[in-house]
Amino acid sequence: SEQKTWSQRFESALHPAIARFNASIGFDIELIEYDITGSEAHAKMLAKTGIISSEEGEKLIQGLEQIRREYRQGLFKPGVDDEDVHFAVERRLTEIAGDVGKKLHTARSRNDQVGTDTRLYLREQVRHIRTQLVEFQQVLLDLAEANIETLIPGYTHLQRAQPLSLAHHLLAYVEMSARDWERLGDVYRRIDISPLGCGALAGTTFPIDRHYTANQLGFSRIYANSLDGVSDRDFAIEFLTAASLIMVHLSRLSEEVILWASEEFNFVTLKDSCSTGSSIMPQKKNPDVPELVRGKTGRVFGHLQGLLVLMKGLPLAYNKDLQEDKEALFDAVKTVRGCLEAMTILFREGLEFKGDRLAEAVASDFANATDVADYLAAKGVPFREAYNLVGKVVKMSLAAGKLLKDLTLDEWQQLHPAFEEDIYAAIAPKQVVAARNSYGGTGFEQVRQALVRARDRLNSA
Ligand code: ARG
Repeated sequence: SEQKTWSQRFESALHPAIARFNASIGFDIELIEYDITGSEAHAKMLAKTGIISSEEGEKLIQGLEQIRREYRQGLFKPGVDDEDVHFAVERRLTEIAGDVGKKLHTARSRNDQVGTDTRLYLREQVRHIRTQLVEFQQVLLDLAEANIETLIPGYTHLQRAQPLSLAHHLLAYVEMSARDWERLGDVYRRIDISPLGCGALAGTTFPIDRHYTANQLGFSRIYANSLDGVSDRDFAIEFLTAASLIMVHLSRLSEEVILWASEEFNFVTLKDSCSTGSSIMPQKKNPDVPELVRGKTGRVFGHLQGLLVLMKGLPLAYNKDLQEDKEALFDAVKTVRGCLEAMTILFREGLEFKGDRLAEAVASDFANATDVADYLAAKGVPFREAYNLVGKVVKMSLAAGKLLKDLTLDEWQQLHPAFEEDIYAAIAPKQVVAARNSYGGTGFEQVRQALVRARDRLNSA
């Protein structure tokens, strides 16, 4: 087989199975365009500092651009013999540009190179994911806007608690998503640091200009310590943490959709475009999208855990273990992007809330019991006393197979003389929701204001 870049120091060839075991080209090919971009910045710097001539720099950049074109046209297909994407690009560059190609790796190591590539990749992915988070929020906001006065039971312990504006429920996820967006912005600042020029571990003997390459690549800062720059992956772990939280939020929403779509809840209908049937049970329509999102959440958590464990025992500086960071990152990125896309489509056009069913649900429970207690408390009855009294009313009503709205005014007044005709209006579901007009509450006025704030925030995102 072919000569390895490093084979001069070795007596005999690598065992073919070990070559396959060692190679990362099967997955780090994903980094090829970032590798080319990083190499171009490095080549420009080598020319600018006089480490190579400007003609040589030009040739390197032209060769690298040719590789980019070949790759995009599907003409450049590196194999296991190339070991990794960095060797593959260098090999092809030397084929194209001749001996000058061999100068590219002056004052550089694959260690600072791979760190640079990974950061360039992740920076771009974070930008994509943030855009997707904005789109997802827009879709939720549109749905919320159309459902301010649609009521839905609110739960604690998955027991009916107090009715809500459906918009308020959806806006809770908009808030989570907005924090996810913000969190990724924080993570971005720690991805946005250039390790290029850290060399293998100790820097280089050449008069390089690290600020110049960082600038070329749009990095805001450079690593202050070469050992740290080539060997930490804290930025990747932070990304996986932020990605995991995005998945937590998507997974909780998914779980709700799955419940809502069940016959037991029957709050939403899934459209045909976003659900599938069963191979045996003809009546089935399954909530595949939210189920898959809930399921894929575990993969992202796994990658976070995997990378934490990968890092914890590594002595300074680079260790080959670090090659294992890539599949975790790539898969987490693909998973989050895929889930965000699917959930955005689901909420844009894949499900329909059943307004009638929701209205029926909120009118047929004791979720207005708090409001009876609040009614009495507002008339001067100490809240705890009112609460105890209403507890008795609920017990009585349950035994009689009645709801609170079915009690006669006489019955109310026997319970407490403070009750008057307006108790019926006070416990009607719409009023129960409207009355929770405290900041951040479900009252319609609050929800309208929250919608405006969320829109403003998105517009300035
Ligand atoms: N394929 C390697 C990785 O992904 C590139 C860096 C290799 N450096 C080395 N000294 N073996 O980490």
